[in-house]
Amino acid sequence: MHILDIISKKKQGIKLTKEEIYYVVNGYTDGIIPDYQISALLMAIYFKGMDAEETSTLTMAMVESGDQIDLSSIEGIKVDKHSTGGVGDKVSLIVIPLVASLGIPVAKLSGRGLGHTGGTIDKLESIEGFDIGLSMEKFIDNVNRYKMAIAGQTGDLTPADKKLYALRDVTATVDSVPLIASSIMSKKIASGSDAIVLDVKVGNGAFMKTLEEARVLAEAMVSIGKGLGRNTVAVLTNMNEPLGREVGNANEVREAIAALKGEAGEDLISVSVTIASYMAVLGKAFEDLETAEKAILESIRNGKAMEQFELLVKIQGGNAEQIRHPETLPTAQIEIPVIAREEGYVHEIKAQEIGTAAMLLGAGRETKDDLIDYAAGIHLEKKVGDRVENGDVLCILLTNREDYQDAYNKALESYEINEEQPEKIPFILDVIS
Ligand code: URA
Repeated sequence: MHILDIISKKKQGIKLTKEEIYYVVNGYTDGIIPDYQISALLMAIYFKGMDAEETSTLTMAMVESGDQIDLSSIEGIKVDKHSTGGVGDKVSLIVIPLVASLGIPVAKLSGRGLGHTGGTIDKLESIEGFDIGLSMEKFIDNVNRYKMAIAGQTGDLTPADKKLYALRDVTATVDSVPLIASSIMSKKIASGSDAIVLDVKVGNGAFMKTLEEARVLAEAMVSIGKGLGRNTVAVLTNMNEPLGREVGNANEVREAIAALKGEAGEDLISVSVTIASYMAVLGKAFEDLETAEKAILESIRNGKAMEQFELLVKIQGGNAEQIRHPETLPTAQIEIPVIAREEGYVHEIKAQEIGTAAMLLGAGRETKDDLIDYAAGIHLEKKVGDRVENGDVLCILLTNREDYQDAYNKALESYEINEEQPEKIPFILDVIS
């Protein structure tokens, strides 16, 4: 088999065989095929695509390139959740205790964030003592006993994806549906859950800017999951502004706590409850979505969801006192209001720009060795649809850095304000199952 023939075949739009796909993935992971040839193949895939069978084979080849987590010693149907990435996305912090409070096991392996703000485990690390480095034995034991555990990815999960993703990043081949779908699903399949709920973000702050594009990606991922025996549902949610009002780490944990008490904004509650309800249905705890949703809302109302979050923090070595008193989580020394210079209605808040502004304040990492300032972030005072007068506070920068001017400018520019009142975009745009 020759890599040149495989590149040439894909260049002409011809379907690749299973043997060819495994040859490429294994050859690249083992360092036998060089970057420049894989770059050419990625570009050919970008333009010519891959059909469902090729995408599924690529997924499995990446799964088999490394370790696979065996969760079979956990009783019940293990349901995982994954977001394609958004700003202010603290949904995992909310749905893990919510779903677990209904007795459904959630075994969540999460990555760290690179870029705007931390990932879920970075956010959790803003709680004193929270340990995301559980051993696999402890992880499984916690899920069996308490129905939930969260840990940073351990072992050598999907090394092929790590290498390919890094190469895609520098060859302008990230935004290809078969490549995104296989990359995300390989990590989910290798993580060992039985069922997966995908939160596919749509809008200016997401990979997929339009609903049509997002549907194509969602369908590809659902098809891979189902084809590989994992019941999969994709919920398409709005990312034309950050989710909720907090972007950062500790402030996002505070907002997640508020959501678990039913006290957060409608967008965050609605997305979290919908994702949690689908997880509960896939976990076979409920026959239909309506009943699941009622149980989820009841868990918020009767305080079980909050109790479960406190328990999660406690069993992972964190200071549960901070959950009872969220004001004791890290807070920034400097608060700078960003002031509107025009009037009208907020049409859009460019989520990526807000994310970058938060990163400049210390909330994210520019390189993987950077340290996160858990106290840093942005509080959004105005959201899409709100009326703004000249001089109103749009958002508040939270930081410990004196040099916040670039972040200020970015945050200001991220607000698009127009005369007419915008149409309301639903929080949940579609569901693909
Ligand atoms: N997230 C991933 O894990 N992979 C992609 O290709 C895109 C987003």
